[in-house]
Amino acid sequence: MLNPPRSLRAVYPGSFDPITLGHVDIARRGLKIFEELTVAVVRNPRKEGLFTIEERVEMIKEVFKNEPRIQVESFSGLLVEFMRRVGARAIIRGLRAVSDFEYEFQMAVTNRTMEEDVETLFMMANESYSYVSSMMVKEIATLGGSVKKMVPPIVVERLRAKLAPPRRAVRR
Ligand code: PNS
Repeated sequence: MLNPPRSLRAVYPGSFDPITLGHVDIARRGLKIFEELTVAVVRNPRKEGLFTIEERVEMIKEVFKNEPRIQVESFSGLLVEFMRRVGARAIIRGLRAVSDFEYEFQMAVTNRTMEEDVETLFMMANESYSYVSSMMVKEIATLGGSVKKMVPPIVVERLRAKLAPPRRAVRR
């Protein structure tokens, strides 16, 4: 379906710096309910990440390259404005633990206050990912640990390239 009605399209927003297997799991769960899902990478000028927005979008596109019902975009400004542009009224967010709840609750209510029509749906990723976060992934990878069980292969590769120590010039 190329142009599903608003109720069949959802937006999965986030920083995705970088995308983890927990995020991938949530996106696929979202597809069980919605016809189309837009993974929306936020451009936040106040929060510099490890990966550029373009790098994040590229990695997510690679992960979902065989899933035509998933689109990947970046956005700046308010999420509710972006939702209006893409024609969606459902936001999907993943919940890992109770500790996520307060922040998520605040965002959901704020978005609904700005746009009465917008609803946030929370989904739980597979338990095996409940400890996975982009922040932990970056820390582990920076300290030389393996993140193979936490992120898709393309992210393992890109992390390796980004964090590789600079080659020393060979002295003769
Ligand atoms: O992965 P994150 O960093 O927890 O995602 C946070 C995100 C992108 C969902 C949130 O920061 C957001 O929606 N930003 C866009 C600006 C906005 O609409 N702010 C008001 C609602 S909180």
